[in-house]
Amino acid sequence: MAPTKPRGLRRNLTNYGDLDFALYLRRSFARSMGYSVEMLERPIVGIAVSGSGFNNCHRTMPELTEAVKRGVLAAGGLPLEFPTISLGEIFLSPTSLMFRNLMSVDVEEMIRAQPMDACVLIGGCDKTVPAQLMGAASADLPAIQLVTGPMLAMPYRGERLGACTDCRRFWGRYRAGAVSTDEIQQIEGQLATTAGTCAVMGTASTMACIAEALGMALPGSAAIPAVHADRLRMAEATGARAAAMAISGAPCPSQIITEQSVENALRVLLAIGGSTNAIIHLTAIAGRRGVQVPLQRLNQLSDETPVLLDLKPTGEHYLQDLHAGGGLIAVLWALRDLLHQDCLTVTGQTLGERLREPPPYVDARVIRSRDQPISSQGGLIALFGNLAPQGAILKRSAADPALFEREGRAVVFESLEDLAARIDDPALDVVPDDFLVLKYAGPRSPSGMPEAGYLPIPKKLAQTGVKDMVRISDARMSGTAYGTVILHVTPDAASGGPLALVRSGDRIALSVSKRALTLRVDDAELARRRAGLTPAYRPTRGYAKLYAEHIMQADAGCDFDFLRLPPA
Ligand code: FES
Repeated sequence: MAPTKPRGLRRNLTNYGDLDFALYLRRSFARSMGYSVEMLERPIVGIAVSGSGFNNCHRTMPELTEAVKRGVLAAGGLPLEFPTISLGEIFLSPTSLMFRNLMSVDVEEMIRAQPMDACVLIGGCDKTVPAQLMGAASADLPAIQLVTGPMLAMPYRGERLGACTDCRRFWGRYRAGAVSTDEIQQIEGQLATTAGTCAVMGTASTMACIAEALGMALPGSAAIPAVHADRLRMAEATGARAAAMAISGAPCPSQIITEQSVENALRVLLAIGGSTNAIIHLTAIAGRRGVQVPLQRLNQLSDETPVLLDLKPTGEHYLQDLHAGGGLIAVLWALRDLLHQDCLTVTGQTLGERLREPPPYVDARVIRSRDQPISSQGGLIALFGNLAPQGAILKRSAADPALFEREGRAVVFESLEDLAARIDDPALDVVPDDFLVLKYAGPRSPSGMPEAGYLPIPKKLAQTGVKDMVRISDARMSGTAYGTVILHVTPDAASGGPLALVRSGDRIALSVSKRALTLRVDDAELARRRAGLTPAYRPTRGYAKLYAEHIMQADAGCDFDFLRLPPA
């Protein structure tokens, strides 16, 4: 008979060359924390917590952790929390994306190294959920994602304000001179007034929905506000389910994150009008299980997947309205004939089994039916052409259709510093029909692909009422932003991609209908320009060196090359 796999405290014993001694020593030290021998015999649920004084979005981590522990204990497990690094979106320089892979390694290795039979991952802010799912996918131990949940949008002078679409709306008006300095200071204190993640369908909320759609989070968990009692009840249920998974040893992420479930998640991303960042993150998560996310497939799915949610940044409502209006399960129900229903989820049920009954209530103002969608096509598309041979992303649901088929003159900014120095210069040679181009803000640039793709409208144009222009870059865009913004141009400029060769005055053609982005400069001239490129700066030590040497492009999820699994 094959020996049974060690469980609980017997897992992953420290290697002194004497396993009995290692267990005796471990038990002795564990008992120093006051646990009884009986408790130490239980299956162990690790709880990966990512609270930090530098992460407002994780402010509820302590009470969520307590609720998870309650659920684990009641279901017969032993809950043991452990810290990982945290990524507070607004508090990291040069950008949080640069540290997502670092956090994923932390999560993966701590799951693998410590004695646990299952893991609850508690995160919320933009990069934390992708990092936790990437780490868990690689470690391949039974794991459940629990998100901290969105903030509440709160009343302010007759309207509701919520981070961060309203942050940008008011900042745009301030730049255009329509909001005073006094008022912008008051608004600053009213945009984010509760615990939780951004209140709109930004990256955090999109990733919460993706975790649920993938099957890695409990049904109904994505949109519960951070401060709602349902969030704590969901935490308790997550703990209980994790204990059951620890006892049974299943299901593992490799059974849940498959080509089919990734496609389901991609469809949901399109139907919810989700963040462009989520394509990068989903690609990275899938890549940890050897699953590819071809951008051509994104375009096929986008053509046949309607946008169903009327949520900011493109619509009217906030995440709390999605929860009250039926939650993500109502979206999954509406899409059910388009989804692979035999995908396994953390509940042990398939998606189809979860979707046997219609949701008890759906608020059609927030979650549209398939015959009355916000738009008949998905929110995101990929563009290709000589300017983006490996693709670029446009969130068409957040863009101005009047700018979809046109050619414009490039106004080029060579770097983020150049952008900051010149965008508001009254002498800048720019007109509303121009295409603003930002270079060297991609994954291989020292800036680590910041959310700088939402280039501000030059002040002198904003003051004349110009609200949108075509903007092109190798950067990302916040999920809470909007505009005709072409992102993730791949390969990026720092890798010597064609974007590096664009000069002010060049003509660029955009055709959304043809999915095309074309630099109208002949090949001979491009070759001449390429010969004059200087090699990109390369750091010589530390994490920056590791990052620079191993970061992949956006079409590979900006993961490190040594962390992805080869395609199955
Ligand atoms: Fe954390 Fe928006 S800043 S979710």
